[in-house]
Amino acid sequence: MQNISNEMRKSYKTIAVVPTMGYLHEGHCSLIRLAKETADFCITTLFVNPTQFAPNEDFEKYPRDFERDFNLAKTNGSDFLFNPSVEEMYPSGFSSEIKIKGITEKFEGKFRPLHFNGVATVVAKLFNATLPDFAIFGQKDYQQTLVIKQLVKDFNFPVSIVVAPTIREHDGLAMSSRNVYLSTTDRNKATILYKALNNVKEAIKKGTRKKEEIDDILKDTLLSLPEIQIDYASSALADSLNEPDYFESGQKIVLLLACKLGKTRLIDNMVITID
Ligand code: PAJ
Repeated sequence: MQNISNEMRKSYKTIAVVPTMGYLHEGHCSLIRLAKETADFCITTLFVNPTQFAPNEDFEKYPRDFERDFNLAKTNGSDFLFNPSVEEMYPSGFSSEIKIKGITEKFEGKFRPLHFNGVATVVAKLFNATLPDFAIFGQKDYQQTLVIKQLVKDFNFPVSIVVAPTIREHDGLAMSSRNVYLSTTDRNKATILYKALNNVKEAIKKGTRKKEEIDDILKDTLLSLPEIQIDYASSALADSLNEPDYFESGQKIVLLLACKLGKTRLIDNMVITID
């Protein structure tokens, strides 16, 4: 992969990479199309990265369909699909891990403590394999975008990070490879996440500024489904994830949700600039 990328770079072509774990949906495809608009070549990476899953998580049963992914990457404009094996990425003797402090310790990091180490490490390896000028990530995994920006800054990767909007189903549910785990009834109920985000958006429009009130609206909306299990439903400053008691005009905030419906864990978020 590195040799191919080096060849492209020698002829002054730009490269955009779209890192994925496959089972591509319209969210991933929108990133591939944006990559192609952004650079001369698009490399999509497809690697279900074992090190970002905890032992009790869904690495083994994570949905996989290479043929379908290959065709979707191709039809959406990807020039290459980089699909290394676990042994190629982590050969015996592999002994490094990137740990990013601060931003990784809250929200998702509290519930999945080693997750972001796995993400940072694999993304660094994918950057070194594909040598991109641009890397496209979805806002769907909001905290992940902050972690990647920190990685790029701290390690001086010569890569511009582009964050693309969350693509949603017609009823507002954020697209995710994991949505296939939902039963039909839970699939219908899953729209509650988007509803909670929108309820806060409306409240902020009407003048709500207090973090506690915002978080209560998120939680109360979610808990209208008694069976939902909330990991976190919280608001923070969008760039730092700091949590002041009040938000002020001009501040960009992010609402962050993670909850379980049945056995399926769903995450979503919304970025709002306070008027
Ligand atoms: P994965 O969950 O496959 O997601 C790959 C990329 O697609 C991420 O940047 C993610 O934010 C984006 N994405 C997922 N759903 C989206 C949606 N509905 N709308 C827009 N973008 C969406 O995120 C990972 O893989 C991994 O952690 C990875 C970065 C590949 C490292 O292993």
